[in-house]
Amino acid sequence: MGEKLFENVVIGPGAKIEDDVSLGFKVNEKCGPTVIGDNCFLRKGTVIYGDVKIGHYFQSQHYVVIRSRVKLGDYCSILNHSTIEGIVRIGSGVRIMSNVYIPSRTWIGDNVFIGPGSTFTNGKYPFRGYPDDYPTIGATIEDDVVIGGGVTVMPWITIGERSFVAGGAVVTKDVPPRSLVMGVPGKIYPLPTKLDVPNNKKYTMSKYELWHSDLEYPGDNDWPENWSEKF
Ligand SMILES: CC(C)(COP(=O)(O)OP(=O)(O)OC[C@H]1O[C@@H](n2cnc3c(N)ncnc32)[C@H](O)[C@@H]1OP(=O)(O)O)[C@@H](O)C(=O)NCCC(=O)NCCS
Repeated sequence: MGEKLFENVVIGPGAKIEDDVSLGFKVNEKCGPTVIGDNCFLRKGTVIYGDVKIGHYFQSQHYVVIRSRVKLGDYCSILNHSTIEGIVRIGSGVRIMSNVYIPSRTWIGDNVFIGPGSTFTNGKYPFRGYPDDYPTIGATIEDDVVIGGGVTVMPWITIGERSFVAGGAVVTKDVPPRSLVMGVPGKIYPLPTKLDVPNNKKYTMSKYELWHSDLEYPGDNDWPENWSEKF
């Protein structure tokens, strides 16, 4: 059986917490509690430090790490093996897929989707720069942005509201609202009409992440029909 560290934690009703979850870890004497709203679902391996404030219906999958001084709104989900370093602001209805890295001083708005394996950065010249001239500041991601899988976002970048970053892009310049970014380095185009909508709140404000135990278990219909093998 795993160890549960539930000192220094305030958690709302309806929580589902699996084994081997660590909450409230005090990185420093001054570190305050982990505060989580109602109906969270924390999967095995989740580690959340103290001084973290999270809203309702928060869902973390396996081996998610959230360090201190992080704020998340309601209906956020963070999938397997993603890391949120300390001093990060995340709004409501944000889904962060697996293997995502979010460094300190990154600001994320509401209804944002971040695809698997995406990396954000905050140091422009790591171990080489002059901190006074080049502050360690991460990206600002405005509301309703979609970041595709395997994207890299350079330090200090702002990605404007409703913009869509294509899979594999490297974002090196500020992105105006309602843009499409594609390629390496990312080229900025006007957002095609078909993508010029806010992210669907049916998904962003969902009570359930993809493998939540309250969801229907995938049945035979979910196994693609055109695969020659049957499950
Ligand atoms: C960018 C994107 C929205 C384009 O979709 P689309 O409008 O249907 O475009 P198409 O697939 O018809 O491709 C149009 C052109 O863009 C190119 N293209 C498509 N996706 C690209 C990408 N991610 N990076 C670079 N070029 C891309 C295609 O090669 C094609 O080039 P061509 O005109 O020279 O033949 C889509 O490909 C994409 O990247 N979506 C994000 C997927 C993702 O990461 N999801 C994460 C959740 S799992």
